[in-house]
Amino acid sequence: MVYFVTGGAGFIGSNFLYYLKETHPTDRIVCLDRLTYAGNFSTLLPLLSDPLFRFVKIDVADREAVFSLFSEEKPDVVVHFAAESSVDRSILDPAPVLRTNVLGTAVLLDACRAVGVSRFHQVSTDEVYGDLPLDRPDLFFTEESPLMPSGIYASSKASADMIALSYYRTYDLPVTVSRCSNNYGPFQFPEKLVPLSISRALRKEPIPVYGDGKNVRDWLFVRDHCRAIGLILEKGKEGKVYNVGARNERSNLEVVQLIVRALRQGEIEFAKDRVCHDRRYSVCPDLIEKELGFYAETSFEEGIRKTVEWYVSNQDWLRAIEDGSYRKVFEDFEERRKK
Ligand SMILES: NC(=O)c1ccc[n+]([C@@H]2O[C@H](COP(=O)([O-])OP(=O)(O)OC[C@H]3O[C@@H](n4cnc5c(N)ncnc54)[C@H](O)[C@@H]3O)[C@@H](O)[C@H]2O)c1
Repeated sequence: MVYFVTGGAGFIGSNFLYYLKETHPTDRIVCLDRLTYAGNFSTLLPLLSDPLFRFVKIDVADREAVFSLFSEEKPDVVVHFAAESSVDRSILDPAPVLRTNVLGTAVLLDACRAVGVSRFHQVSTDEVYGDLPLDRPDLFFTEESPLMPSGIYASSKASADMIALSYYRTYDLPVTVSRCSNNYGPFQFPEKLVPLSISRALRKEPIPVYGDGKNVRDWLFVRDHCRAIGLILEKGKEGKVYNVGARNERSNLEVVQLIVRALRQGEIEFAKDRVCHDRRYSVCPDLIEKELGFYAETSFEEGIRKTVEWYVSNQDWLRAIEDGSYRKVFEDFEERRKK
């Protein structure tokens, strides 16, 4: 089998690559990534000596390059993580978000049609459903809930989901979609809440928390998300959407407080709220639990402990992002390879 994993130099994609290598050691894996600011080639260095692994620096919205790679490698399964994933950056500049998340997904779908794949899996987010009020903890989003995205990032992901599902209906392309809640764990870019809080606390700098910190998210350890995608690839039904969640709702403030306790250092500072800041996301994971037997295995306390330990033991990884040197790792690697 040949697996294409897009966005594999990013947070969840890289964790998925390591998961796939462990669970499918004899399959060929090709990682497609443009290496934007969020892509970190150094995360993938341990995989590069494996003859069954290939890294290709490519823009998923570049139709010609994508078609050429698909016809060369003929993938069986495409797992699509590549995205502009920052809500804050999408507010500042929607154009790259729409290009990558919407157009990039459409290009990949066309390439899948051209070569014929046994699965295209669209990795999506619970943000496509919009938000829920804080005073109605009885409400959850199911796969049947209407898509009501609030912001640019969420609406780009909702568009991509709908395009992917329309390729299933129109062309019979074997598509599945997963909509997951907030992930945390190793290799996450330190602009997101969990690694940002850890890195600020380690540098003895104040940890910014938006608004009153009461915004609620469901938090899932990244390894559990990878397992969920693995199960969907194995047993999921074509044309279906699966919500993935941990039934673990926490306010942003609670998350940061737990990190501060785990590290025994860190000071919280409330910051001006983000515009259009969704209050609560919560997906109902009944379908994936009943149909595919997926349950989150890692408790939040254990997951945060593991995550904090990982960042403390991998401060070089964090420092290379903070000083910008991570952006040179790919060029240096290519230069050495050519010599
Ligand atoms: N992080 C979360 O909590 C979360 C939750 C649910 C769903 N998701 C979804 O999971 C996926 C991965 O999220 P993440 O947090 O790992 O993101 P990330 O920002 O850490 O990684 C994105 C990766 O995509 C690459 N990329 C961006 N534009 C590209 C392009 N045009 N061509 C090729 N590669 C490109 C980047 O270089 C980077 O390596 C996204 O689709 C996101 O919507 C994320």
